[in-house]
Amino acid sequence: MVIFTVAIDGPAAAGKGTISRAVAAHFGLAHLDTGLLYRAVGAKGGDPVLAAQTLTEADLARGDLRTLEAGQAASRVAIIPEVRAALLDFQRRFARREGGAVLDGRDIGTVICPEAEVKLYVTASAEVRAHRRWLEVGGDEARVLAEVKERDARDMGRADAPLKAAADAVVIDSSDMSVTAATSLAIGIVGDALRAAGKV
Ligand code: DC
Repeated sequence: MVIFTVAIDGPAAAGKGTISRAVAAHFGLAHLDTGLLYRAVGAKGGDPVLAAQTLTEADLARGDLRTLEAGQAASRVAIIPEVRAALLDFQRRFARREGGAVLDGRDIGTVICPEAEVKLYVTASAEVRAHRRWLEVGGDEARVLAEVKERDARDMGRADAPLKAAADAVVIDSSDMSVTAATSLAIGIVGDALRAAGKV
């Protein structure tokens, strides 16, 4: 029975998604992008608590969840403790599923799975993150930077499960490193932990 959780937290546009997908593919682990849950709740409209309590696969499959607007809406509904509570069990079960899992988000190592075998906190300066996001979405780079800073402030400043590195997380700062280099680093750290735990 292999129970092995990799928690990858960090601010918006830090490369968590790319790193998490690569780590999951490399080691054959399941992957959950927890930001998508909050994005789907924000995009659904209406009462966010009800939206979180009744979230379906179809809600997660919407094509408009990756926009800057969906990110802002997600960050706003993520402040609400009842929304977070409604999404907790699903994430916890996913984290401890048979075969191992990688979850990326804001509170995986601190709240969802404090017992995760590996915790990474992936970050970079706001300017570097905004530039990377701007290369993907285009538009006005100054506006993208303002959005990144606004989301950082809201995600780090909220009372319930704020974004912060767990005390035992390994911090990967990719401000002066490509996302590819940060990914290799993460794969090395996870491989070492799997070997140390006798899981490979
Ligand atoms: O990772 P992302 O950019 O898709 O996340 C969108 C928003 O969802 C983020 O700004 C805050 C919220 N979120 C959260 O509060 N907790 C998580 N574990 C993941 C995302």
